[in-house]
Amino acid sequence: MSPHSLCTLCLLLIYLIFAVLAGRDFYQILGVSRSASVKEIKKAYRKLALQLHPDRNPDDPQAQEKFQDLGAAYEVLSDEEKRKQYDAYGEEGLKEGNQGSHGDIFSHFFGDFGFMFGGNPRQQDRNIPRGSDIIVDLEVTLEEVFSGNFVEVIRNKPVARQAPGKRKCNCRQEMRTTQLGPGRFQMTQEVVCDECPNVKLVNEERTLEVEIEPGVRDGMDYPFIGEGEPHVDGEPGDLRFRIKVLKHPLFERRGDDLYTNVTISLVESLIGFEMDIVHLDGHKVHIIRDKITKPGAKLWKKGEGLPNFDNNNIRGSLIITFDVEFPKEQLTEKQREGMKQLLKQVSVQKIYNGLQGY
Ligand SMILES: *[C@@H]1O[C@H](CO)[C@@H](O)[C@H](O)[C@H]1NC(C)=O
Repeated sequence: MSPHSLCTLCLLLIYLIFAVLAGRDFYQILGVSRSASVKEIKKAYRKLALQLHPDRNPDDPQAQEKFQDLGAAYEVLSDEEKRKQYDAYGEEGLKEGNQGSHGDIFSHFFGDFGFMFGGNPRQQDRNIPRGSDIIVDLEVTLEEVFSGNFVEVIRNKPVARQAPGKRKCNCRQEMRTTQLGPGRFQMTQEVVCDECPNVKLVNEERTLEVEIEPGVRDGMDYPFIGEGEPHVDGEPGDLRFRIKVLKHPLFERRGDDLYTNVTISLVESLIGFEMDIVHLDGHKVHIIRDKITKPGAKLWKKGEGLPNFDNNNIRGSLIITFDVEFPKEQLTEKQREGMKQLLKQVSVQKIYNGLQGY
């Protein structure tokens, strides 16, 4: 290769690198690796969106911009097609630009949170009528509690839209006083209303992204602000997803600990055994016993429980309780004799009050 063409190649490379670097680094904005899964991207977005929301950062002049960047990053990386283009050509490679508004993405995760931040938290203003809250049970599996997940819920939400014409609104009782003559008045009560622009309720389809956070507990609420019943003269209520953890056939949850039972054979209980328990995320928990395992014996596996909700790095234990399956067939005379020889166990026959209730 001639020095000239080598130099051209260099320039080309530098140009390419520059072109890729020219746009924003969406992975860095979301704080995820280039191989991050969609779940990780949603998780990162949901966490950062709360932190970076401009209403929460009124003193940061760049808050709006940071929030926009976050929305753009999410929009591209959560879309398989756009992400491919971005990975190959950088932000410049995305032809159509970012058309979706960020408020839209945000409300998929939190509802119309605009009510919530900025000035007055809405609960305090009791004069504004409010639609009712909707509470929906969200059934989650123990696998989801273990690993976390996002579920998409499509909500057909009635929203108030302007319609032609006027309607009466803010109606109230008012006292009118009319003078009938000198020193004579008549007081009447009448209904007075304002004229408001007419509204009609239109069904709008909306995708809500509900995060099932690792370690989530039964009965916890995920509110989506303003996604509840609309109120024509006021604000809509909230939609709340209430976590309902489903029973699992193999594992029982107590706090962050998981309990399971294992039946072993009498032989295994005497001579030891080796086995794998397939955990909620598919990984294997290996068990080796070379000692005698009595019926009811418990084995604690620290760190194999559920992640703690407040700190996912802390995990509970997996507690395995063994029971022993005895042979179903009766032993032959020969086997009985052999067993006696083998175990050489002397007779015990101790009588005691095991309940201690004396
Ligand atoms: C299963 O394990 C639990 C918890 O340790 C224990 O209380 C229960 O008796 C066990 N069940 C059986 C059938 O052994």
